[in-house]
Amino acid sequence: MPAGRRPTVVLGVCGGIAAYKAAELLRRLTESGHDVTVVPTRTALEFVGAPTWAALSGKEIATEVFEHITEVPHVRIGQQADLVVVAPATANTLARAAHGLADDLLTNVLLTARCPVVFAPAMHTEMWEHPATQANVATLRERGAIVIEPAEGRLTGKDTGKGRLPDPAEIFELCVEVLDRGPLRPDLAGRQVVVSAGGTREYLDPVRFLGNRSSGLQGYALARAAAARGAEVTVVAANVTLPDPAGVKVVRVETTAQLRDEVVAAAAGADAVVMAAAPADFRPTSVSDAKIKKAADGSAPTIELAQNPDILAEISHHRPRPDSVIVGFAAETGDETGSVLDLARAKLARKGCDLLVVNDVSGGAVFGSPDNQAVILGADETSYDVPLGSKRLLAHVIWDQVAARLTSH
Ligand code: CTP
Repeated sequence: MPAGRRPTVVLGVCGGIAAYKAAELLRRLTESGHDVTVVPTRTALEFVGAPTWAALSGKEIATEVFEHITEVPHVRIGQQADLVVVAPATANTLARAAHGLADDLLTNVLLTARCPVVFAPAMHTEMWEHPATQANVATLRERGAIVIEPAEGRLTGKDTGKGRLPDPAEIFELCVEVLDRGPLRPDLAGRQVVVSAGGTREYLDPVRFLGNRSSGLQGYALARAAAARGAEVTVVAANVTLPDPAGVKVVRVETTAQLRDEVVAAAAGADAVVMAAAPADFRPTSVSDAKIKKAADGSAPTIELAQNPDILAEISHHRPRPDSVIVGFAAETGDETGSVLDLARAKLARKGCDLLVVNDVSGGAVFGSPDNQAVILGADETSYDVPLGSKRLLAHVIWDQVAARLTSH
């Protein structure tokens, strides 16, 4: 894209109750400097009318090929787009797209677009799970489209299940990720990856715990980046308070033992596992059922600790698949026994993983910050410096390294 040109986005909106959420997505896209053309389907306008889309995008709205015909919009809109995002995408439009139908403006745009295409389906669980829909989704993914897994939760009416549109803010994040990468094929399509994120808590009693400062930002950035590159992503999140990334399965845990069990379960058959979480190395040997009270004599209790399992070492030594790629993180400060890199090389060998992302945390710089700086060490003696930049950028560099190792297998 030429420097200074605003990225051109087509927002396709289909006829589902979640159409109102697309207004927020539109707002986020326009406010962050994107040139957005909204192409609703006829039924989308039953839910949210054309004036809303026109006012928020600043452009005329058309649903049919025969409107504004002198501009040949069905060809021009698709050709000029840097990204097409369809949110919500109904079962009907997924089917029309998978079969190459061209019976309205949106499906024409989908056929003329040569840029990345993101579908964010929203529908009832039965419709999503139907073999016809699943086959259409598989076809679209095979052709390089990113189809976000719907979120679970409250659907229209009283029922709950899989089929909700993910949070528009998170769909927006995914769009930005995809736009940043340009018109590349999603290189992790068909890959199953697991990311751990956040920091574990080890309880002393019902209200107190030993914890750490990990925010989960880097793990969530990794999850988003992998989803944008087409992977099927599970995040095992330890005490993370961030919104769920779009299309990512989130499994919540608190303690290191729970994190271990969920990571091992999710990793079965996975292509890659990235341990970005900060699991506590120790836990109290016993957890009091009742709140621990102060002693009358002013004495303080002694906390006896036991060592927790080392999840990264376990996964590396008992790989989910012989050719899976395992990535660890190392937060190091360096000490009298060695520099940050000396200690990291030793850790890489000890843990047995393929890649170790090394952060120099002297001064506590990384925690909760949107930025990160790292060196990625490979078990194959490679070393890659990642300059200070966003956690999102580091996430993509990590997946570049993982993807290179996956294709070389
Ligand atoms: N890790 C793990 N299980 C643990 C502790 C850490 O899987 N019980 C993982 C982290 O997710 C990270 C990597 O191991 O990917 C390195 O974590 P770090 O705390 O730096 O390593 P430790 O093994 O705890 O080594 P140290 O003795 O330096 O604290």
